[in-house]
Amino acid sequence: MTYDSGKEAFTVALAAFIVFIALFQRLKGKDRRRLSPGPRGLPLLGSLPFVDRNLHHYFTSLASKFGPVFSIRLGSKLCVVVSSPAAAGEIFRDQDVAFANHVVPAAARFYLGNSTDLLWAPYGPLWRMLRKIAVREILGVTGMKAVEPLRREEIRRMVAALEAQATEGSAVNVRNVADFFPAVAPLDPQGLGRRLRRLMEWLDGYLDGIFERRRAAMASGEKHSDVLEVLMELVQSGGPHESAFTSNLQDIIGASTDTTSTAVEWAMAELLCDQERMKEAHRELDAVVGKDRFVRESDIPQLRYLSAVVKETLRLHPPIPLLVPHRPTSDCTVAGFSVPTGTTVMINA
Ligand code: HEM
Repeated sequence: MTYDSGKEAFTVALAAFIVFIALFQRLKGKDRRRLSPGPRGLPLLGSLPFVDRNLHHYFTSLASKFGPVFSIRLGSKLCVVVSSPAAAGEIFRDQDVAFANHVVPAAARFYLGNSTDLLWAPYGPLWRMLRKIAVREILGVTGMKAVEPLRREEIRRMVAALEAQATEGSAVNVRNVADFFPAVAPLDPQGLGRRLRRLMEWLDGYLDGIFERRRAAMASGEKHSDVLEVLMELVQSGGPHESAFTSNLQDIIGASTDTTSTAVEWAMAELLCDQERMKEAHRELDAVVGKDRFVRESDIPQLRYLSAVVKETLRLHPPIPLLVPHRPTSDCTVAGFSVPTGTTVMINA
């Protein structure tokens, strides 16, 4: 090849590349036009510098400007925020399979590696099996009844801990930069992934120890008739590997502790600020339970005022106001707007 023909080929390749980029940008532009409206944001950072500490409040104010389905760029991530029951229905009822996957946070990817668990597993046979175990064996009526005495004991401990902490008050707000700039996620810039991995390794060891002790107890003929025994029997009868249960138990511990304690703290805070309603709740507790014992689960149907307090607390202060973000596995349409594959979809409950 002569110098001139080489130069010509290079010029043609460069021109083709420029045309390709221009076409790509145009196509992308067209696709963007089908996206729901939303704030423009800054190059590279998107709207990240403007977000409020209370993300759901910020999204509520944007929804009043852009409508119940709006798009927003946070870092390099395209997010769609949904604030109407009708649009949420389109996602969770009409297109539940396409939207079944959660967005796996950068920190969770650090401890999960190639393995997965109920909360982050992609929709498929493994997820279905983990979910069946959680719903049938752990959260089902029999499973819940089997551990009622344990729950009662834990409630006693929690009340004691609340009493001890009554004078303390602190808030922690941890956001991971890596969730908005996936390119830097492997570097774990804030060390949250490493911290979470250490915590999960500790929890793994703790649960392994429980499994180990129970295996030995079962081998010596002990019977417990509880959730753990059901799970161990499933493993022994050739069911899933024990690690599937460990990850399920980890999820349930994670999913149930912070949510419940946040709700209790808010209920208490609201009642402390409203002495009339606090008195009403006390009156009902005195009438139904009396002063000589703790509340039992069987009292709940009679505690109608307290149940209303709980519902109102969850309405005013949902512990996970944006739920766990979902990620469509195919290009979808919600309220007539395009939601491309991989978008982070948040429901502002
Ligand atoms: C006030 C209490 C609670 C609130 C507000 C709450 C809220 C939530 C939310 C918003 C999700 C994500 C749903 C989604 O976007 O797909 C979730 C998932 C989950 N929660 Fe709860 N939760 C609470 C208590 C509990 C408790 C007590 C348990 C277990 C004993 C539990 C177990 C789970 C599990 C296993 C998942 C994952 C389900 C899946 O991905 O299929 N939660 N919860």
